Amino acid sequence: MSIQKAVFPVAGMGTRFLPATKAIPKEMLTVVDRPIIDYAVREAVEAGCETLIFVTGRTKNAIADYFDRNPDLENELEAKQKAEALEIVRNIIPSHVQCIYVRQSEALGLGHAVHCAAPLITPDEHFAVMLPDDLIDGYPVGALKQLIQAHERERCSVLALEQVAWEDVHKYGVIKPANSDLMPIQIESIVEKPARADAPSNWSVVGRYVLSGKIMDILKDVQRGTGGEIQLTDGISQLLQTEKMIGVPLSGKRFDCGNKVGFLEANLHFGLRFLNR
Ligand code: UTP
Repeated sequence: MSIQKAVFPVAGMGTRFLPATKAIPKEMLTVVDRPIIDYAVREAVEAGCETLIFVTGRTKNAIADYFDRNPDLENELEAKQKAEALEIVRNIIPSHVQCIYVRQSEALGLGHAVHCAAPLITPDEHFAVMLPDDLIDGYPVGALKQLIQAHERERCSVLALEQVAWEDVHKYGVIKPANSDLMPIQIESIVEKPARADAPSNWSVVGRYVLSGKIMDILKDVQRGTGGEIQLTDGISQLLQTEKMIGVPLSGKRFDCGNKVGFLEANLHFGLRFLNR
């Protein structure tokens, strides 16, 4: 696969899940038997990514622990001949996949979080960004693989898109399509959380991106925007001035695990699959 690196910005505060997220990172809340972050990591591995870059914060050590080996636990399971459990804890992540952790010292926004990975990305490569809150049951392949397949055909940055109700456009990054009837969608412009009256379409950006490495140079100068945060959308908007970018409507079901209802729906969806297997 052409995209080797995936960046996971996981340094957000998770305030919508307080008090649970006072001591546990939001990304470690479980959907059935796995933390939310595990689903996104599996999707990245399925898509061929071999370097996973986690942009973490002060309270997020549990994420690094989860993807690390735990020899004490493994020895204990081995001694007790719990072969199935041992197999599970040993195979959280394949051995050819490397995890790198960088810190975002202050949660200044998603654009700032992505820029924290800049030393690990070269300007002439494309890389993936995955927001684990968006838990996607992609069909027939995972969401990131769908984006990478489009990238391999078009050789440009790719955004995952979903059509949302007009009354919800103010919650998302929204694109202006240059060609609304043709696939893939050529993106003309993008705006973060527009008012309904200002929204250029109801195509919202979902938490999966394949981006040109050149965005890192742009992000270093992006100023605070919507909500007082350094927005990835503003960096993408500038990248659009110089590079072609396409949007791919995702095939599959998305759950917004950043809020309680979406998180419960994800548990029901994957829970039913677990019960029926
Ligand atoms: P969100 O705004 O949805 O996450 O950011 P949050 O801030 O953790 O959640 P609430 O709103 O307080 O409940 C989307 C993604 O961007 C990351 C988050 O961790 C999440 O994966 N993020 C956001 C960062 O890594 N750093 C930031 O400064 C902001």
